[in-house]
Amino acid sequence: MRTENPILIQLADYRPSDYLIDRVILDVDLHAHESRVKAELTLRPNPAGIAGAPLVLDGEDLTLLSLELDGRALASDAYAITATALTLAQPPNRPFKLTIRTQVDPTANTRLMGLYRSGGVYCTQCEADGFRRITYFLDRPDVMAVYTTRIEADRDEAPVLLGNGNLLESGEAAPGRHFAVWHDPHPKPAYLFALVGGRLDRLGGHFTTSEGRSIELGVYVEPGKSARAAYALDATLRAMAWDETAFGRAYDLDVFNVVAVSDFNMGAMENKGLNIFNDKYVLASAETATDSDYAGIETVIAHEYFHNWSGNRVTCRDWFQLCLKEGLTVFRDQEFSSDMRSRAVHRIGEVRTLRARQFPEDAGPLAHPVRPKHYAEINNFYTATVYEKGAEIVRMLRTLIGASAFRAGMDRYFAECDGTAATVEDFLDAFAAVTGRDLSDFARWYERPGTPKVSVTGTYDAGAQTYRLDFSQSLAGSDDTTPLVIPVALGLVGQQGPIDAASDRVQDGVFVLSESADTLTFTNVPEAPVPSLFRGFSAPVRIVMTLSDADRLTLLRHDSDPFNRWQAGQSVAMRLLTERAMAGAAEADSAGPDASAFVDALGGFLDAEALADPAFAALMLGLPGAGDVAGEIGANIDPDAIHAARLTLRRHIGHGLMGRLHGLRDALADPADAAFSPDAAAAGRRSLRNVALDLIAAGDPASGADLAAEQIAAATTMTDRLAGLSVLATIPGPQREAALAAFATRYRDEPLVLDKWFAIQAGIAEADTPQRIAALQQHPAFAMTNPNRVRALIGGFSMGNPTQFNRPDGAGYALVAQAILTIDKSNPQLAARLLTAFGSWRMLEPVRRDRAEATVREIHAAPGLSRDVADILARTLAG
Ligand code: TRP
Ligand code: ZN
Repeated sequence: MRTENPILIQLADYRPSDYLIDRVILDVDLHAHESRVKAELTLRPNPAGIAGAPLVLDGEDLTLLSLELDGRALASDAYAITATALTLAQPPNRPFKLTIRTQVDPTANTRLMGLYRSGGVYCTQCEADGFRRITYFLDRPDVMAVYTTRIEADRDEAPVLLGNGNLLESGEAAPGRHFAVWHDPHPKPAYLFALVGGRLDRLGGHFTTSEGRSIELGVYVEPGKSARAAYALDATLRAMAWDETAFGRAYDLDVFNVVAVSDFNMGAMENKGLNIFNDKYVLASAETATDSDYAGIETVIAHEYFHNWSGNRVTCRDWFQLCLKEGLTVFRDQEFSSDMRSRAVHRIGEVRTLRARQFPEDAGPLAHPVRPKHYAEINNFYTATVYEKGAEIVRMLRTLIGASAFRAGMDRYFAECDGTAATVEDFLDAFAAVTGRDLSDFARWYERPGTPKVSVTGTYDAGAQTYRLDFSQSLAGSDDTTPLVIPVALGLVGQQGPIDAASDRVQDGVFVLSESADTLTFTNVPEAPVPSLFRGFSAPVRIVMTLSDADRLTLLRHDSDPFNRWQAGQSVAMRLLTERAMAGAAEADSAGPDASAFVDALGGFLDAEALADPAFAALMLGLPGAGDVAGEIGANIDPDAIHAARLTLRRHIGHGLMGRLHGLRDALADPADAAFSPDAAAAGRRSLRNVALDLIAAGDPASGADLAAEQIAAATTMTDRLAGLSVLATIPGPQREAALAAFATRYRDEPLVLDKWFAIQAGIAEADTPQRIAALQQHPAFAMTNPNRVRALIGGFSMGNPTQFNRPDGAGYALVAQAILTIDKSNPQLAARLLTAFGSWRMLEPVRRDRAEATVREIHAAPGLSRDVADILARTLAG
């Protein structure tokens, strides 16, 4: 166990390593409890380090068996061992070899970091600092070595043995044992090391790169499930081809393997040539996976594959540069998915995720810059800010310099930094070099936490036919008031459609706001226009502008930018929701005449366009989430009032559009003999049909429940079955309980499907949900040791059930606190993630705020907390 003293690691303290490791020869002898690792490390003093410095190797939960220097056993007084390090006070001042034998217990490894077992399969997870749980090492990303790995195991237990790179040899070992030797010629940091040993089925594929390299692909899954790996394999092939055309990046080994495991702390991991996945992001069939599961697989498969260049060939100098690989790779996977599907629909999804996950983080005590300046526990910085806001920064850069300069800069970055451990500065330098621009002002995006506010007022001068926009920007919570460089994609819209007005400050539809306040004037504006600002959500900011509902509905009808058409509807809905929520629960029942205008506009939109683009129409009908509304209100939050306001508005929409919604359901129904396809068009039809079902039920619960039950009975896809069940879950009664029970019976052997069932029940906004969850924790399919189960049931409650999690009696907080304390003993990373649900406690109204704070303090008072949990607690209470 590591110590819990909160030592802050500072970016400003970065120093190169005093020693480098060029070669690693590993010999891993897999046994359930006593796995032995022999590591032969070729070291040398780093010319950039301090000569004669002690050699401090990281290590954690290791048993040292022996230690040799240049082939000779070291006397026990020649080195020192603590819980976290092995130190040689006086290593040779020349190249030397260390041979280290360690023993680890993969079965007892419940943290899922280092070498562990998942459903009997041996696997590893080394990012960020798990390699030190396999052997003593310089476990930092700027120490890059060439690895050769020999893996030995029982042939019965682990017929498949996989490592990084290419297979060199394999064969018989001792009786019943066999081995494989893998070699990865590309130098890499230890966090990209991986091995797998287990009984797995393989789905194979083949790809020839633009450079003529022939690649064998393998997707390895639980025996009997290889048919469910087909979509993941297909997505891999598409990602490989796309990276060649979109970024000029070809694959660089002869083998590319993907392995799915059931116990995994996050989505997936980009180990060189051997990506390891949470099986949720590999396994899919029409019977078990929803359309959004398919989309998630496509995205995550691509994300990990794209890391081969953005992360592996060019890696990070230190963990402060995490966004260098993660933000960039999210941007790349977003572009890939946009090209595979509908760009507008995908962009709306990206922004919804950003607002739901990153904006609250940036507004609360866990806010941090995209490139943090310090951390106590790096595993707590794999955040929405680093990933999603990090991707937004890359997107803004492209908007600012244009697509072709962006591509030239990317090419230069990959060329200049290939084989190195780079920094954010190296990244920006590549774009500065190809454009000749100074990007140091833009770089502030990496340093400033918080969501900037941009306030805008518009003034029309009918006599002069000019339209003026006055912009100002601000960023709360920072002493530094130097402005950010904010690209504003914009245009003007009139009563009949876009207005073609000119301004010399707008280039390619983009105005750059780089001052605290600035003014922009359009000339030749023939009518009073409505401004369409931040088209495509061109910057991750909050926009403050007073537009009338009528103006917004003009944008909804006539804007040329689909994102802003959607945004216009959201903004009207947001105003309706915040006003009703703030008026309190008593008044929340009436919808009012302005809601009717909104519903009429939605109806007009549906009549004109729903069948032409069902996926987009489904999004147009969606309301801002409860969390979005809370963020907009900003303080003194009453989750019950927000919930009531959303219910009321949804009921109103359901009533108002009832005929149309039924009509859409009929028009969009698949013919009975239609073959299943997970593609975007088919998924779009299903999504609009299911949004219609949801609104019908909101308008008329009784007939909605019958329709949902019918849909479940007739469903041929998990998307439709689950949509029916989700609607039924909101309507109390025996019909719901019967449907839930039938679902559980049908999928009793499908843990990933049962996760959906856990999450739906965790989200029921009713007073007895805590008891329901307590019962579900006893369900045979539930396990506190499996991250997917925990995220479904406990995370589904804390993140997906705002009224019950935030109950004024504190029962919701207590339930989650209990789970956190239990899980922290086995898997601190997972416990720390769950704890982030308390991040918005200061925004709540006083009764709930006090309850939430008291609960966080109770967790804080528990003995033996992990560093992961202690770090989140300290920041949650301090912020
Ligand atoms: N680098 C991984 C990604 O692609 C995420 C990751 C970081 C991770 N740490 C991990 C995955 C620990 C599993 C466990 O985003
Ligand atoms: Zn990643």
